[in-house]
Amino acid sequence: MANGLLKGKRGIISGALNDQSIAWKVAELAHAEGATFVLTNAPVAMRMGEINKLAEATGSAIISADATNDAELDALFAGAQEKLGGPADFLLHSIGMSPNVRKGRTYDNLNYEWYKQTLDVSGMSLHRMLQAAYKGKALAQGGSVVALSYIAAQRVFPDYGDMADAKALLESITRGWGYRLGKEHGVRVNSVSQSPTWTTAGAGVKGFDGFFNFAQAMSPLGNAPAEDCARFCIALFSDLTRFLTMQNLYHDGGFSTTGVTPEVMAKFTTEG
Ligand SMILES: NC(=O)c1ccc[n+]([C@@H]2O[C@H](COP(=O)([O-])OP(=O)(O)OC[C@H]3O[C@@H](n4cnc5c(N)ncnc54)[C@H](O)[C@@H]3O)[C@@H](O)[C@H]2O)c1
Repeated sequence: MANGLLKGKRGIISGALNDQSIAWKVAELAHAEGATFVLTNAPVAMRMGEINKLAEATGSAIISADATNDAELDALFAGAQEKLGGPADFLLHSIGMSPNVRKGRTYDNLNYEWYKQTLDVSGMSLHRMLQAAYKGKALAQGGSVVALSYIAAQRVFPDYGDMADAKALLESITRGWGYRLGKEHGVRVNSVSQSPTWTTAGAGVKGFDGFFNFAQAMSPLGNAPAEDCARFCIALFSDLTRFLTMQNLYHDGGFSTTGVTPEVMAKFTTEG
């Protein structure tokens, strides 16, 4: 049920690769809630062509940009202002990729060139985006930025590899830019730490089904689905959360503050 929460708002949504992507669900819901927006993704993702379906369904323009390329980001923010008719009220950073994780290189055997790529694509790209948007005056007064993160930034999940370091960097950048953009433009910047979710990026992590099922058994509400993550992002883009900034917000069914559950205990209990 749509409530017009984003009526009249303009935005930029990155990271919609296919209909499983969290960003895809955010775009569908933002459209239903009355927003107009530009979709962006890396040129390589464009070749898959799926994003065209989303653009058509939501009446959106697409501007391709590699989030590690400053010139392409400058062009993205200039182009988005032109297409939208003004600066963006909301921006979704939904970008993650680790060559080490993809190619099975464990944390004690990292390839450092790939490690740099992981940090750049999955962490520093938020800084690059916000710096480009700031210099291009591309974010509207009172706007909202959301970046997607994962609890491996705080706690060790061995198979998440170097992505954990990238997420820690990402969350720190939300605070660094949140302060500056808040002071100067009343723009808020938050990260959403989402449950394991079946997407292309998620399923790329070794033993993802184990990750997923463990989190499910450890969360009183169960894992948060992608559609609900989208609902939360919409709330953060809306005027209902105007003084919420520089936070890492767990959207994880209670996983992050649960010590143990009977379901998990049952696997270790031997008596009776
Ligand atoms: N799936 C999960 O379990 C989970 C859990 C917590 C957080 N997240 C985070 O959610 C975000 C979205 O991931 P998803 O699960 O929807 O998977 P996804 O694979 O659908 O999305 C990842 C996106 O990053 C884009 N991307 C990669 N390199 C890029 C680059 N250089 N420039 C621009 N875009 C680039 C990809 O094209 C893709 O669209 C990521 O930050 C991910 O780490 C995912």
